[in-house]
Amino acid sequence: MIEEYLCSMSEELNIIAGTKTEQYESLIPQIKGLLEGEPDIVANLANVVAALKEQFDWLWTGFYIVRSSSASAKDELVLGPFQGPVACTRIRKGKGVCGTSWEKAQTIIVPDVEKFPGHIACSGLSKSEIVVPVIRNNEVIAVLDVDSEELNHFDETDKVYLEKIVELIAFN
Ligand code: SME
Repeated sequence: MIEEYLCSMSEELNIIAGTKTEQYESLIPQIKGLLEGEPDIVANLANVVAALKEQFDWLWTGFYIVRSSSASAKDELVLGPFQGPVACTRIRKGKGVCGTSWEKAQTIIVPDVEKFPGHIACSGLSKSEIVVPVIRNNEVIAVLDVDSEELNHFDETDKVYLEKIVELIAFN
């Protein structure tokens, strides 16, 4: 019986040097492996952010999940699994980069957070940011937020690959 619960994956990720594209191309099959056969959403979100952190070592990498603050419609994002400094726990729809990505159902690349009106500064060290919505059945159900200590750190390559990565996650 016990064997059923043993970790079947190899315990270590293969972390590579190389271009951004090469790093994502190496990581994606490994993320698929981590997700395979595991239905639990918290476990899967936690491993995805850990894998991204290990490969890229960004300042902050994590998910915010769409929730309802009361019995009403889904109106806020609540902090989910992340790696990095402690962060704000709740973000309203349309607020900050995360709430704007949710409202627009679009990836937002912010080259300089100080120039994004309404940016929510969870860490004073963050200089640039990308937020990728997780869309299922035409609805945003979460966002992946990544922060860097460097200005202008994220580009179209990050957008393309992070969108692919969030597609891999089964939200049930
Ligand atoms: N900067 C985000 C808030 C989340 S933290 O960066 C972790 C925003 O403006 O929505």
